[in-house]
Amino acid sequence: MRFFIDTANLDQIREANDLGVLDGVTTNPSLMAKEGIKGEANIKQHYIDICNIVKGGDISAEVIATDYEGMIREGKELAALHKQIVVKVPCTKDGIKAIKHFTEIGIRTNCTLVFSVGQALLAAKAGATYVSPFIGRLDDISTDGVELVRQIVDVYRYYDYGTQVLAASIRHTMHIIQCMEAGADVATCPLSAILGLLKHPLTDIGLAKFLEDYKKVNG
Ligand code: E4P
Repeated sequence: MRFFIDTANLDQIREANDLGVLDGVTTNPSLMAKEGIKGEANIKQHYIDICNIVKGGDISAEVIATDYEGMIREGKELAALHKQIVVKVPCTKDGIKAIKHFTEIGIRTNCTLVFSVGQALLAAKAGATYVSPFIGRLDDISTDGVELVRQIVDVYRYYDYGTQVLAASIRHTMHIIQCMEAGADVATCPLSAILGLLKHPLTDIGLAKFLEDYKKVNG
């Protein structure tokens, strides 16, 4: 399973990238706003900065337009910024039409805000590169988000769709493990959830004991 980081914060992106296990970045308008990135030119430059940090990774950049024509115009501009850009398009009627068009002209897409298998089916039929089921937001309304990931993975395997399942809205480390078990191709996570994978008390205790024993004989 590949790892994307879900943030627009450049320091966190650098920290995750320095670990050597980062495969890409997802952003959205809320994450950009959280970092105070505003204005078309600044937003575009921010995407380029992210691409330059995570060399070779897939970087999702979301369209703001909600109509088909606007999505096509914005998506083409975003894709032209850098070859690593994947155009993120919401799972709406116009969004699915836009994904189909982007697929036909060779622009990679991430179908976002997906909350059902039916939406994931339409994203795959339109040729989306990625589909993003939002598991945390489903959990928030007492619906099993990881189960949705499992269902989409099963349907895509059964029908042999090429769309990759990108588990999104991950809130904690256990979500990552559960998405891996469910067969997700990618998990996009906050840095804290990625670093949480490292934590184990027996690792800390074992390392302390190794160092203590080393010092006993080496001074
Ligand atoms: C995915 O691409 C989204 O940016 C993200 O995962 C949304 O997560 P949230 O529900 O924590 O806002």
